[in-house]
Amino acid sequence: MLENDYETDVFLSGAIANTPDLQFRDWVELQALQYDYLRAAGASADSVVLDVGCGPLRLGSRLIPDLTAGWYYGIDINGETLAIGRDVLDRLGVSADRVTLIESTDFDVAAIDRPVDFAIANSVFSHLNLNSIARCLLNVAEVLRPGAALHATYFDVSLDRWNSPQSFVNFGREFPTYPRRDPYHYTQAMMADVAAWAGLSFRLDPGYAHQCQTMAVFTREV
Ligand SMILES: C[S@@+](CC[C@H](N)C(=O)[O-])C[C@H]1O[C@@H](n2cnc3c(N)ncnc32)[C@H](O)[C@@H]1O
Repeated sequence: MLENDYETDVFLSGAIANTPDLQFRDWVELQALQYDYLRAAGASADSVVLDVGCGPLRLGSRLIPDLTAGWYYGIDINGETLAIGRDVLDRLGVSADRVTLIESTDFDVAAIDRPVDFAIANSVFSHLNLNSIARCLLNVAEVLRPGAALHATYFDVSLDRWNSPQSFVNFGREFPTYPRRDPYHYTQAMMADVAAWAGLSFRLDPGYAHQCQTMAVFTREV
């Protein structure tokens, strides 16, 4: 059983094809949420940003124009999704001169050749099993600048609810999450444990106003 369908399913492909001006609600709101969050965290022109599970560049297409002296790395499991992301940049007239997109099933960071100041994974851990999250944290930790962090959202549930399906709501749509199939939910203690295992410190950031996911911050301590 694959942990999710994204190796074959292209995230938002239909919505993007039908919305050439990229003004549909999920795109605009979740782009602004991520962009404002990273800017508030200090991302600026010379920042190196790693977007794990970057999809069709919902964040990237807004952030990349700011990174005039920095770099944007995007990793995704699906090459077709990345091709759509390149097309989105073209359509918006955004230069890809300071962009590296990596297709990888295994969070391959070998192409990342400068220390990363900010890493983000919006709505990605929600589709990964715990082994993949551990693998992701270990690999990303290798390229984080000391003091920098991976900011990753997940579905948070209490221990007494973890072992059964739970219900969340996003953009008015109710859907289940599960202990061992996509979309996955986790307890805070599970996230803290896998962070410690990967040698990263862990905290939650209540300042990220996602409708149904919780922001975890995994920091490579100095
Ligand atoms: C819900 S989408 C979020 C996309 C993007 N972060 C955003 O907020 O617009 C999840 C993304 O994670 C990617 N993904 C799923 N499993 C992955 C893996 N093991 N490695 C890298 N990317 C993965 C999917 O292809 C998809 O683009």
